[in-house]
Amino acid sequence: MRELDYNHDFTDPGERAAIDLVRSEFDGGPVLDLGVGLGRTINILKPLTSDYRAIDYLPAMVEICRKRYPDACVELGDARTLHGMPEQYFSLVQFSFNGIDAVTPSDRLRVLASVYRVLKPNGVFLFSTINLHGPASRARPWHIYIPDGIGLPRTMVRTARSLLWLPFELIHWHKLRRLSVRGPDFMVAPLAAHHWGVLAHFTSYAHELKELRTAGFTTIAVFDNENGERINTYSNTSHIGWFHFVARKYAA
Ligand SMILES: C[S@@+](CC[C@H](N)C(=O)[O-])C[C@H]1O[C@@H](n2cnc3c(N)ncnc32)[C@H](O)[C@@H]1O
Repeated sequence: MRELDYNHDFTDPGERAAIDLVRSEFDGGPVLDLGVGLGRTINILKPLTSDYRAIDYLPAMVEICRKRYPDACVELGDARTLHGMPEQYFSLVQFSFNGIDAVTPSDRLRVLASVYRVLKPNGVFLFSTINLHGPASRARPWHIYIPDGIGLPRTMVRTARSLLWLPFELIHWHKLRRLSVRGPDFMVAPLAAHHWGVLAHFTSYAHELKELRTAGFTTIAVFDNENGERINTYSNTSHIGWFHFVARKYAA
């Protein structure tokens, strides 16, 4: 979460590209921001509408967000149910920074069904999700990641820090690995974030397209996180960390 606290802008070029696409034809209607966390997305989405609402299921996040953004409507709420939200009301619903990957595969379908219910016909659902075939699914606690060109002193500090954390990370990873679930085109497995302390959902591009279609959405565009380039069925996705999906609710 510390990373998000410092980042009041876009997480990556893919998020920017997805938002730019939505903004280019946005009707200024109501916006619902799911899993708002510390509020990074408020400054991005609130200017688009006079009816911005955000929820998070962690009371601490709601409290921090309300303090930081007293003018924003931030409530405690669960994306799996969206209890109390008006039906067929929102022009845009967003679940950013892989928030949807925090729930189980069956709850993911509940999120999609709830989002479908609260969106207007032709309303847009924007979310990001971790790539099953990308670097995050190949990462292991003992892989030490050193970004290019950071110089020797920082390389040494990073390496020392990684080695210091390694025993704890191995314990976390080992415990969570037992809870992993593997499907034909998705998995739930430990994620490197939070020192391998969380399980996350990983999905392939094709699987997510199918899941959206089944839930009543048509996918308008998908962007990769790193360069903000459009993905299609023929793209090689092995280097892509996560996807940004822009989907539209079918008009009834
Ligand atoms: C990775 S953070 C992203 C925070 C923020 N949206 C951003 O992009 O900077 C994911 C957030 O989603 C929230 N979250 C996860 N599952 C949720 C659910 N079912 N309902 C509501 N919030 C949820 C978490 O509490 C967390 O604050």
